[in-house]
Amino acid sequence: MSSRIIPAVAADLKEIIFLAKSFDLDLEDVSWQQFVVAKKEKSIIGFGRLRSYLECTEVATVGVISEKRNQGIGTAIVKALIQIAPSEVFVTCVIPDFFLKFGFESVKQYPSVLQKKVDFCKLYDFNDDQIFVMRFNK
Ligand SMILES: CC(C)(COP(=O)(O)OP(=O)(O)OC[C@H]1O[C@@H](n2cnc3c(N)ncnc32)[C@H](O)[C@@H]1OP(=O)(O)O)[C@@H](O)C(=O)NCCC(=O)NCCS
Repeated sequence: MSSRIIPAVAADLKEIIFLAKSFDLDLEDVSWQQFVVAKKEKSIIGFGRLRSYLECTEVATVGVISEKRNQGIGTAIVKALIQIAPSEVFVTCVIPDFFLKFGFESVKQYPSVLQKKVDFCKLYDFNDDQIFVMRFNK
């Protein structure tokens, strides 16, 4: 199924936060302007954001509701984010295989601000060799 990915609007934020919390995703410094969403009728079925720091930009907070997974929605969201991202974009994740297929590559050296995100993953009992910082260059 190919999904239409559109920019979020202010009214979407409450539902995004509700869903992202239930998936244990990063909700630090969220604003609706960062997000793109996939919707079915008026409900959000998937979302993701670009989080910008002074030093870099990362793809973050990507989620798809469980009933709609494995239908290409997560892929469409990441592709849409890559399209609007600057030439270099990072992701910090525990599912490297999902991001490899877009061309993200695991890196050992990365902007120090992303260490905070690595530490966030550790709060959920992931250890160093399960957490990947990955970079994509257009
Ligand atoms: C990860 C997630 C966004 C994928 O969304 P989706 O709509 O199911 O993804 P797609 O249908 O586009 O892609 C499915 C592919 O991703 C793979 N995939 C899904 N979850 C994965 C995971 N946890 N680890 C590795 N690969 C995964 C599937 O095996 C499938 O592979 P294939 O295309 O080779 O068959 C979704 O499973 C989700 O919301 N998970 C919970 C939140 C989360 O972990 N977010 C990532 C934060 S960085």
